[in-house]
Amino acid sequence: MVQSLSDKDDPCRLVVLISGNGTNLQAIIDRCEDGEIPARVVGVISNEPCAGGLERSAKAGIQNVVIDHRDYSTRSEFDQALGRHIDSHRPDLLILAGFMRILGKELVQRYQGRILNIHPSLLPNYPGLNTHQRALTDGISEHGATVHFVVPQLDAGPIVVQGRIRVYPDDTPDTLAQRVHELEYRIYPQAIRWFAEGRLTLRGNSACLDGLPVRLGGDLSYGM
Ligand code: GRF
Repeated sequence: MVQSLSDKDDPCRLVVLISGNGTNLQAIIDRCEDGEIPARVVGVISNEPCAGGLERSAKAGIQNVVIDHRDYSTRSEFDQALGRHIDSHRPDLLILAGFMRILGKELVQRYQGRILNIHPSLLPNYPGLNTHQRALTDGISEHGATVHFVVPQLDAGPIVVQGRIRVYPDDTPDTLAQRVHELEYRIYPQAIRWFAEGRLTLRGNSACLDGLPVRLGGDLSYGM
């Protein structure tokens, strides 16, 4: 039987890490508020003091904190401070939503199977930065976004769900970014909902839904 991580009095606790505008954070907050995701965002952490997502969380009455990586002399000190703040929220799930720092191995291992990331490409294509420009330069016909479990290697963890869009001849990085974002607002809340319901788990190297490895290109792909 699937054990849901949420009940009415103690819903699944989400901590969201951001660096920027936070539109994915907003979609997640909205879906928690309207009951689509049976979970609660209990904390938002940004490494950028000017991240727009900080205002979004404040507006929603969610605790937020800035942990500026520039205030730490080593990557490991930053990671430890980040880890302490994350732990203090006792999250069931850690969500990377446009968080532009690489999490240290220790932190990733401590939360193994409980960290999700969203990446603006159809992984394993185009890990890293500037995905829309790179896709256009290669002249590919299909692009999209991927939700995956986080492992120590960058953008390499087991895939949970992907959304696809067609690339048109007159597309620019901006038009692609816009359509990919629209997809992200659908697939990220969907993945988080599965997790909160206890249906999404990491087993070895596979993301499993209801105990079975997810099938990409099947029901778990959305198209626009
Ligand atoms: C998204 O495109 C996401 O895929 C990537 O960073 C962007 C964050 O956008 N990881 P926002 O801050 O949620 O608006």
